[in-house]
Amino acid sequence: MALYSEKVMDHFLHPRNVGTIEDADGVGEVGNAKCGDIMKMYLKIDNDTITDVKFETFGCASAIASSSMATELIKGKPVSEAMKLTNQAVAEALDGLPDYKMHCSVLAQEAIESALADYNEKNSGKI
Ligand code: FES
Repeated sequence: MALYSEKVMDHFLHPRNVGTIEDADGVGEVGNAKCGDIMKMYLKIDNDTITDVKFETFGCASAIASSSMATELIKGKPVSEAMKLTNQAVAEALDGLPDYKMHCSVLAQEAIESALADYNEKNSGKI
């Protein structure tokens, strides 16, 4: 069996929503000290809905695929739903990740959590 699913390869080779949002409503940056990978997430939020999301990831194939899939899973969704996104849901949507690569999907979950926390802070505890 191949190490990575077709979906992982697709999102790694053709990542969705790569880039930055200049006037983002929430920005989150997280890193994994062990592997050194870094992920930055930008959110545009209107009326409690994630209207746009972009990411920059300096990391492995799984980290790039996880961030790409995570952005697809929360784009257009209510903030309340994005808050509940788990790394397992990201990995499942990618048709699985090897065990030792599960921490890459955790990074995606944490980057979104961090961007939402930033949004919350800037909006005096709106969520
Ligand atoms: Fe650390 Fe992928 S190896 S995020």
